[in-house]
Amino acid sequence: MSKIPETSAPLTALLASRWSPRSYDQTHEISDQELLSILEAGRWAASSNNGQPWRFSVAKRGTELHEKVVAGLIGFNQGWAPAASVLIVVSIKKTDDGGSHKGNFYDAGLAVAQMSIQAQALDLYTHQMGGILYNELHKSLGLSSDLEVGVVISVGKKAAPEKLEGPALEREIAPRTRLDLSEIVLHGKP
Ligand SMILES: Cc1cc2nc3c(=O)[nH]c(=O)nc-3n(C[C@H](O)[C@H](O)[C@H](O)COP(=O)(O)O)c2cc1C
Repeated sequence: MSKIPETSAPLTALLASRWSPRSYDQTHEISDQELLSILEAGRWAASSNNGQPWRFSVAKRGTELHEKVVAGLIGFNQGWAPAASVLIVVSIKKTDDGGSHKGNFYDAGLAVAQMSIQAQALDLYTHQMGGILYNELHKSLGLSSDLEVGVVISVGKKAAPEKLEGPALEREIAPRTRLDLSEIVLHGKP
């Protein structure tokens, strides 16, 4: 089953091959070197004023931290994400008066995008999750009050879709879709 999209012009191979699976090989162990590469990719993302407003909590499968992160996922995500080799919680710096910082979320998104592509280069697949219990994770991870939880990313080796069932299986085998370029390029489409 190919998830490589049809595009009107070629994409670089890493971008073309990236997609977000839910079926992970629960026997695969990520190496420290692989993890460091992924974290370095996030570290070296661009950010406004080089503010680097992202912080990472790295929870390998089988650790106590992993249990805490799994407990902070909504039920649907708990059905598949624990099999990934690692779950990474991305926390984001708040504004000085304690609110969400729009620019910091933008910057953290860039960091996560780079991490996804670096993982892809290691033949590891990422899946971002917003279906998480933000406050519970903040508490269980003991995060400081100047941070808020942004997203959880699963990383691991992809496995056969048939390991899943129900809606997760349906989504795993569904074709990937996108808006047409003409719908998103408001001006100047070639
Ligand atoms: C910020 C964000 C939050 C997401 N939250 C979830 C989630 O909670 N559960 C889930 O199964 N997928 C989640 N996804 C995955 C998206 O559904 C997926 O990226 C989208 O359908 C596009 O598919 P693709 O990544 O395979 O191209 C999330 C993706 C992003 C970027």
